Amino acid sequence: MLDSLTWKKIGPLANIPVRGSRRLCFGAGGKPIAIFRTGENKVFALVDECPHKKGPLSEGIVSGESVTCPLHNWVIGLDSGLAAEPDEGRTQTIPLKLINGEIYVGLQLERACG
Ligand code: FES
Repeated sequence: MLDSLTWKKIGPLANIPVRGSRRLCFGAGGKPIAIFRTGENKVFALVDECPHKKGPLSEGIVSGESVTCPLHNWVIGLDSGLAAEPDEGRTQTIPLKLINGEIYVGLQLERACG
Protein backbone atom coordinates (compact mmCIF):
# COMPACT_ATOMS: atom_id res chain seq x y z
CA MET A 1 0.00 0.00 0.00
CA LEU A 2 1.33 3.45 -0.88
CA ASP A 3 1.26 6.37 1.50
CA SER A 4 1.49 10.05 0.60
CA LEU A 5 4.73 11.64 -0.48
CA THR A 6 7.67 12.03 1.85
CA TRP A 7 9.99 14.88 0.87
CA LYS A 8 13.65 13.91 1.13
CA LYS A 9 16.33 16.60 1.09
CA ILE A 10 19.13 15.59 -1.23
CA GLY A 11 21.41 18.62 -1.10
CA PRO A 12 22.13 21.92 -2.78
CA LEU A 13 21.53 22.69 -6.44
CA ALA A 14 25.18 23.76 -6.57
CA ASN A 15 26.20 20.09 -6.22
CA ILE A 16 24.78 19.32 -9.66
CA PRO A 17 26.75 20.62 -12.64
CA VAL A 18 25.01 22.93 -15.09
CA ARG A 19 23.60 20.80 -17.95
CA GLY A 20 24.51 17.77 -15.87
CA SER A 21 23.00 15.27 -13.53
CA ARG A 22 23.43 13.29 -10.36
CA ARG A 23 22.31 9.74 -9.65
CA LEU A 24 20.67 8.89 -6.34
CA CYS A 25 20.89 5.33 -5.15
CA PHE A 26 17.53 5.35 -3.50
CA GLY A 27 14.26 6.03 -5.11
CA ALA A 28 11.17 4.87 -6.82
CA GLY A 29 10.42 1.25 -6.07
CA GLY A 30 14.09 0.49 -5.58
CA LYS A 31 15.09 2.13 -8.86
CA PRO A 32 17.69 4.90 -8.79
CA ILE A 33 16.64 8.48 -9.49
CA ALA A 34 18.45 10.91 -11.78
CA ILE A 35 18.39 14.61 -10.91
CA PHE A 36 19.04 16.93 -13.87
CA ARG A 37 20.03 20.59 -13.94
CA THR A 38 19.49 22.55 -17.14
CA GLY A 39 21.48 25.48 -18.47
CA GLU A 40 18.71 27.72 -17.11
CA ASN A 41 19.10 26.21 -13.62
CA LYS A 42 15.83 24.32 -13.73
CA VAL A 43 15.89 20.95 -12.00
CA PHE A 44 13.99 17.77 -12.82
CA ALA A 45 13.94 14.24 -11.49
CA LEU A 46 13.29 11.03 -13.39
CA VAL A 47 13.72 7.37 -12.64
CA ASP A 48 17.19 6.67 -14.02
CA GLU A 49 15.96 4.34 -16.75
CA CYS A 50 15.41 5.05 -20.41
CA PRO A 51 12.02 3.79 -21.66
CA HIS A 52 13.80 2.03 -24.53
CA LYS A 53 16.16 -0.52 -22.91
CA LYS A 54 16.70 0.97 -19.46
CA GLY A 55 19.80 2.99 -20.33
CA PRO A 56 21.12 5.22 -17.52
CA LEU A 57 19.70 8.64 -18.33
CA SER A 58 21.93 10.19 -15.65
CA GLU A 59 24.84 9.50 -18.03
CA GLY A 60 23.11 11.23 -20.93
CA ILE A 61 23.58 14.69 -22.39
CA VAL A 62 21.26 17.44 -21.15
CA SER A 63 20.17 19.89 -23.82
CA GLY A 64 17.43 22.43 -23.20
CA GLU A 65 14.85 20.52 -21.16
CA SER A 66 15.67 17.09 -22.57
CA VAL A 67 18.26 14.40 -22.03
CA THR A 68 19.71 12.17 -24.73
CA CYS A 69 20.16 8.58 -23.63
CA PRO A 70 23.79 7.44 -23.84
CA LEU A 71 22.92 4.04 -25.30
CA HIS A 72 20.89 4.65 -28.47
CA ASN A 73 20.28 8.41 -28.46
CA TRP A 74 16.60 8.53 -27.67
CA VAL A 75 15.63 12.00 -26.45
CA ILE A 76 13.58 12.12 -23.24
CA GLY A 77 11.72 15.20 -22.01
CA LEU A 78 12.82 16.08 -18.49
CA ASP A 79 9.45 17.56 -17.57
CA SER A 80 7.23 14.76 -18.88
CA GLY A 81 9.56 11.75 -19.12
CA LEU A 82 8.20 11.19 -22.63
CA ALA A 83 10.37 9.98 -25.48
CA ALA A 84 10.49 12.40 -28.41
CA GLU A 85 8.81 11.16 -31.60
CA PRO A 86 9.15 8.97 -33.53
CA ASP A 87 10.16 6.98 -30.44
CA GLU A 88 7.54 6.01 -27.92
CA GLY A 89 7.65 5.40 -24.21
CA ARG A 90 7.81 7.22 -20.95
CA THR A 91 10.12 7.31 -17.97
CA GLN A 92 8.55 7.90 -14.59
CA THR A 93 8.90 11.47 -13.35
CA ILE A 94 9.65 12.15 -9.69
CA PRO A 95 8.19 15.15 -7.84
CA LEU A 96 10.86 17.69 -6.97
CA LYS A 97 10.97 20.99 -5.07
CA LEU A 98 13.71 23.60 -4.90
CA ILE A 99 13.61 25.57 -1.64
CA ASN A 100 16.30 28.13 -0.82
CA GLY A 101 18.70 26.40 -3.20
CA GLU A 102 18.11 22.96 -1.67
CA ILE A 103 16.62 20.11 -3.69
CA TYR A 104 13.91 17.84 -2.27
CA VAL A 105 12.44 14.81 -4.02
CA GLY A 106 9.02 13.42 -3.23
CA LEU A 107 9.01 9.71 -2.59
CA GLN A 108 6.11 7.40 -1.98
CA LEU A 109 6.97 5.14 0.89
CA GLU A 110 5.40 1.77 1.29
CA ARG A 111 3.70 1.08 4.54
CA ALA A 112 5.69 -1.59 6.36
CA CYS A 113 3.03 -2.51 8.88
CA GLY A 114 -0.45 -1.67 10.08
S1 FES B 1 18.33 2.44 -23.86
FE1 FES B 1 18.04 4.55 -24.13
S2 FES B 1 17.94 4.82 -26.25
FE2 FES B 1 18.16 2.68 -25.98
